Amino acid sequence: MHKDILKVVLIGDGGVGKTSLRNQYIHKKFTNAYKATIGADFITKEVETDDGKKVMMQIWDTAGQERFQSLGVAYYRGADACVLVYDLFLERWREDFLKQSSLPTEEARHFPILMIGNKIDIDDRVVSRRQARAWAEIHSSDKMQIPCFEASAKNGDNVEKAFAHIAKMVKIPQ
Ligand code: GTP
Ligand code: MG
Repeated sequence: MHKDILKVVLIGDGGVGKTSLRNQYIHKKFTNAYKATIGADFITKEVETDDGKKVMMQIWDTAGQERFQSLGVAYYRGADACVLVYDLFLERWREDFLKQSSLPTEEARHFPILMIGNKIDIDDRVVSRRQARAWAEIHSSDKMQIPCFEASAKNGDNVEKAFAHIAKMVKIPQ
């Protein structure tokens, strides 16, 4: 069966820049004003997969929380890839995704995950590039390497590249 919609879920703590990254990617716009997301929604964009097929990428965005709380099954259901936008609490978000998406263990080990460390335009960072890569390495498997991108929703650095990469990771059944 040909699958032409990719469901991609953005997850991460409140304020890390999930909504800003999506706005930058889709609309090439950024604002300094912080308006916390309420509820969940998606925007669709046409992207090209590795073998040149055009697919619709449905990018879901929802509220992060002040402190970690589970997002629940509905948001994750049917996801083809997840994007972890981080500052400090990556591990718990990944566990939540894998738990709530009810993937069989074997599938969960190879599920497409991509990391975006956002706000590289700011100098005083908490997570170093090395720490991010080390984390990704630990959670990668032989079949699935977690790519680490560092981006800025503010000036657009690496945003296009990171999202475009998702379509290259997802295996689409012929
Ligand atoms: P929730 O909806 O509450 O989960 O937050 P969010 O992850 O969607 O964060 P949002 O995109 O609303 O951004 C939070 C704040 O960080 C806003 O004030 C943005 O302007 C700012 N911000 C987002 N991305 C960047 C970035 O790349 N650089 C800088 N300097 N600020 C950013
Ligand atoms: Mg938001």
